[in-house]
Amino acid sequence: MTEMGMEEVAEALVAKGKGILAADESTGTIKKRLDSINTESTEETRRDYRELLFTAEGIENYISGVILYDETIRQKSVSGPKLVDILNDNGIFPGIKVDMGAKPLAFSEGELVTEGLDGLRDRLNKYRELGARFAKWRAVISIGNGAPSQYCIDVNAHALARYAALCQEAGLVPIVEPEVLMDGDHSIDECYAVTETALKSVFDELYKQRVVLEQMLLKPNMVLSGSDCPKQADIEEVASKTIYCFEQTVPASVPGIVFLSGGQSAQTATAHLNAMNNLDKHPWEISFSFGRALQSDALTAWQGQSDNKDAAQAAFIKRAGLVGAARDGSYSADME
Ligand code: 13P
Repeated sequence: MTEMGMEEVAEALVAKGKGILAADESTGTIKKRLDSINTESTEETRRDYRELLFTAEGIENYISGVILYDETIRQKSVSGPKLVDILNDNGIFPGIKVDMGAKPLAFSEGELVTEGLDGLRDRLNKYRELGARFAKWRAVISIGNGAPSQYCIDVNAHALARYAALCQEAGLVPIVEPEVLMDGDHSIDECYAVTETALKSVFDELYKQRVVLEQMLLKPNMVLSGSDCPKQADIEEVASKTIYCFEQTVPASVPGIVFLSGGQSAQTATAHLNAMNNLDKHPWEISFSFGRALQSDALTAWQGQSDNKDAAQAAFIKRAGLVGAARDGSYSADME
């Protein structure tokens, strides 16, 4: 069989009813997640946890691709096969986080720029050999204390586009992730304005740097009230403002928008995704690339104990099923 091209992979990643599991927490971030269930973070516990998710029965019904971290793409399962092969055998595309994290931006206190372009071409080729079919790069934009500056937005957009072009050259579908953080007391309208400005800058750079829009996915934040904002927008307002923002900024040739959950509870992120899929027809698939919202129920059920593996897998599949239902607007809170 001939291998799928990038356009087909991008479309398959946003197939109806399915979306992406972000399991690419860096070593520092996964430690925080494991600390929260009083479990030591070792190469073994990280493997056990991720293997538990990837081998949950029925995962392939809801999950089209999994974003991995460098350690995980090279790791073997307890039973022997590589984790990448387990995913492939189940028809799930392995992906890889390739940025090197967000670092302080020069001459702009409090703002961040994502690093990782040096040597990226070689790393992408290596990851392609290891089985990755798509990649992720996350830029971080915060709101508050005068931020974000146009300078911060533009340098991050430039780096995202350089990354995306290199991915396509290497045969990997780039997931382009400009995340406007929900931390802060800003209103939903401030989040709207910053998200719109960021997306305009990102697509301007993608166009200048010749990125093929049919062969990429966008991974944005939803347009939300800041987490400390006294007046929280309701689900319908979030859905309509988020979709309107993308109608203003995201070309129809992009096959899919795969949202991050960004610290929302699993239930809230699922309800927002559902409401967006219930709005009028839009040109892109509206899907998910959730980390915390897909994993939190499973992590809580697991508690680092092998005796809880079945319960953790059941919790993961239940959540994946609910998020899968939200993909076509057929989720309701009473399914929780
Ligand atoms: P969250 O859904 O937890 O925000 O994670 C998604 C992700 O990959 C962030 O880069």
